[in-house]
Amino acid sequence: MDNALGEPQTILLLGGTSDIGLAIVREVLSPGARTVVLACRNVEKGELAAAGLRHGGLAVHVVHFNGSDTASHEQVIADVVAQHGDIDLAILAFAQLGDGAVTSKDVQAASEIAHVNFTGTVSATIAVANRMRGQGHGAIVMLSSVAGERVRAANPVYGGTKAGIDGFAQGLGDALAADGVHMMVVRPGFVHSAMTQGLKAAPFSTTPEQVAAVTAKGLRAGRRTVWAPGILRYVFSALRHVPGPVWRRLPLG
Ligand SMILES: NC(=O)c1ccc[n+]([C@@H]2O[C@H](COP(=O)([O-])OP(=O)(O)OC[C@H]3O[C@@H](n4cnc5c(N)ncnc54)[C@H](OP(=O)(O)O)[C@@H]3O)[C@@H](O)[C@H]2O)c1
Repeated sequence: MDNALGEPQTILLLGGTSDIGLAIVREVLSPGARTVVLACRNVEKGELAAAGLRHGGLAVHVVHFNGSDTASHEQVIADVVAQHGDIDLAILAFAQLGDGAVTSKDVQAASEIAHVNFTGTVSATIAVANRMRGQGHGAIVMLSSVAGERVRAANPVYGGTKAGIDGFAQGLGDALAADGVHMMVVRPGFVHSAMTQGLKAAPFSTTPEQVAAVTAKGLRAGRRTVWAPGILRYVFSALRHVPGPVWRRLPLG
């Protein structure tokens, strides 16, 4: 249950080693926070992240979670609730970028990215949402991307999955509102994180900490969608309408 100041006391990060996800956890942690659960495919890496978060009376736990293994998702969430009680805030931060040049042509590589980013995210989100419906409260942060706002030729598989989960989260969020659950979609531009290491930064690039600050502010304000940085909302309302032949030549990274 959020404390009297509306601050989450139990936080679940799915994709528990994500640079953006961990920055959001650090940003929303208040002195009243009791428990953070990092759900990771690589538990050893998760333990390193957990060590960096632990302080004072905050308990940080690491659990194994594979976004691709959809059959396990309900049990992972059930175990978290059984051990730590209601989930006040769940952050969906697992995804893979893949190499667009490969995934555009290789059936197996494309389907693996599509499975974890879309099917895995949908499955884990529904498992969380079902719990929050029962609780009658909670917030879900969905890491979408501007890559899904208008999908680029450079990486159509990744962009397509982001378009898919963005639409899914909006629709599910509208359904969950009646149950007291807040869904917020976060649309970052290019973020300097492990995912983009070695890639040329796109215009308006940002940091995990800046995405986290926008996310925390949006949660407090009860927003449905936030962009990071905020200017991308206006940039993309223009880019969405740029004719295809022009769009294809834009230097967007
Ligand atoms: N970086 C950007 O420019 C950017 C922009 C817009 C949106 N986003 C979105 O923001 C979210 C976080 O990305 P990030 O920048 O923080 O990148 P990141 O640090 O690489 O985080 C991605 C996370 O996904 C996890 N993951 C990948 N496949 C998984 C699987 N099968 N099961 C469980 N976990 C899995 C990774 O685990 P490992 O540590 O084990 O690899 C890692 O924790 C993603 O949804 C991404 O699409 C990123």
